[in-house]
Amino acid sequence: MLEYIDSHAHYDDDAFDSDRDELLVRVHEGGVKYIINMGCNMERSRFSVEYANKFPFIYAAVGIHPEDVDKAPADYLEQLRKWAADPKVVAIGEIGLDYHYDGYDAELQKKIFEEQLDLAQELDLPVVIHSRDATEDTLNILRKRGKVNGVMHCFSGSAETAKQMLELGLHISFTGVLTFKNAKKAISALGVVPMDKLLLETDCPYMAPEPNRGKRCDSSMIVHVIDKIAAEKGITPEEVAKQTMENTLKLFYKIKL
Ligand code: NI
Repeated sequence: MLEYIDSHAHYDDDAFDSDRDELLVRVHEGGVKYIINMGCNMERSRFSVEYANKFPFIYAAVGIHPEDVDKAPADYLEQLRKWAADPKVVAIGEIGLDYHYDGYDAELQKKIFEEQLDLAQELDLPVVIHSRDATEDTLNILRKRGKVNGVMHCFSGSAETAKQMLELGLHISFTGVLTFKNAKKAISALGVVPMDKLLLETDCPYMAPEPNRGKRCDSSMIVHVIDKIAAEKGITPEEVAKQTMENTLKLFYKIKL
């Protein structure tokens, strides 16, 4: 059986309300060794910590997503710090910049992003970074820090951008987007990512890979992403699963503590 890790999931999403716990057990028994559930705001970070303590194979990230910065309470950093002390909290995420929808507050997003990068550094935890339509500002913030221990999630940028992220020390994570028919750019980015910097994720319930595109995504669907990467890199699916598992456990080192 192929064993792999879903390094980025949102099982707190309403899409899982009807069958969340059964589904989690089923995907785990089907080969998903570990799942890292993301935090996006206070409520969803709390869910991540709670579920990580409910199921041994689930781990949590806590953080404020750029689209949720306006809802961050004044003491959010203290709360994140408290959660991060939990042995099952392995990262600060997902954090970053998102300029996709009108009405965003770029200055507030940058402030909250940088505060959380500082926190991660202070706590010696990796970061999970979300960047949409904000590549330049994201790179500028990260470059000020030299090296950054973390992952650029749901990567869909160019090969050139991937190289710049790799230079900062970041890992690159791909979702089902790689399997889409119009994934040329993501495929060429995959070409520049060395195998020891590659992570797998679903970002479920979104981003279901082909042949499930448009359906509710869950962690078991990573097999389609694994197959695609194996075909592109000219190696076996087992090698992709094994190497990305090693990478994930090295980056999110608290999983093994
Ligand atoms: Ni996400």
